[in-house]
Amino acid sequence: MRARITTAIFPIAGLGTRFLPATKCIPKEILTVVDRPLIQYAMDEARAAGIRDFIFVTARGKSALEDYFDTNPNLEHQLRKTGKTDLLADLKETNVDSGHLVYVRQHQALGLGHAIWCARRIVGDKPFAVILPDDLVVAETPCLAQMMEVYEEFGGNVIATMEVAPEKTSSYGVLDVVETIGRVLRPTGIVEKPAPGTAPSNQAVIGRYLLTPAIMRHLNAKSVGAGGEIQLTDAIALELARKPGSVIGCRFDGVRYDCGSKAGMLKAIVAIALSRPDLRDEFREFLATDPATAPQHAALAAGE
Ligand code: G1P
Repeated sequence: MRARITTAIFPIAGLGTRFLPATKCIPKEILTVVDRPLIQYAMDEARAAGIRDFIFVTARGKSALEDYFDTNPNLEHQLRKTGKTDLLADLKETNVDSGHLVYVRQHQALGLGHAIWCARRIVGDKPFAVILPDDLVVAETPCLAQMMEVYEEFGGNVIATMEVAPEKTSSYGVLDVVETIGRVLRPTGIVEKPAPGTAPSNQAVIGRYLLTPAIMRHLNAKSVGAGGEIQLTDAIALELARKPGSVIGCRFDGVRYDCGSKAGMLKAIVAIALSRPDLRDEFREFLATDPATAPQHAALAAGE
């Protein structure tokens, strides 16, 4: 039996400058994809994979997240009084029992590896998950649950990967793959944001990880890597060098949207709206209209 993974770290200290001015006074994790904040999708995915304890690594300006995951007795009372039971059920998903959600501040923006390290005393000597909420994954079986299956079988460190175009590899952690068996990749190395033309493969890491305590120990060294930051990828690379075979890539089934970028966010909104029974017919009809000729869209574009 493997040690069960029930704790997840959500590194959410970033300023979200790509979404200014919206993020001037709200955390980017509260930005909505249709009607749910980005962070809610990440929490849903974590819960579906058996995660029970949540660690948010935050920074100044993120306090709206604490309110979001708290109860709101007034609102609940109003909804109960007016018989809005479906909305009450939606609100339930935003509640976390006291003691199961812990906030820790990252006092300096020193990189993703440093953000994870900030949670070391809370995680203790146990394996843990990491979810980057910017990466929204739409999948029949949620991505983290797919990774848990791989973890059950092989143990060790499991990271989610996807194929990207060669010219995109410099934006990701990239695996040096020696063997591929079904959805499992066996890497011999991993490199953070390789310079164009130097990537060892086009198997890129996305923001989902199941990690062993050894990774925290490597992060203790606080070595600075790509972009002058302390990189999680470098800690994983060290572990792979120390213990060959201890890292597995999981080619998850599903589509990942990069909601850290405006285009990615828009694509996620379109994809999720089209999958929603309450929206899809009206929205599909809207999208099917040729904006160049439809008078309604032309008027909108002209600001009328
Ligand atoms: C981080 C990781 C990178 C990974 C990416 C996935 O980079 O450092 O290895 O491929 O997330 O989204 P970031 O996008 O935060 O620069």
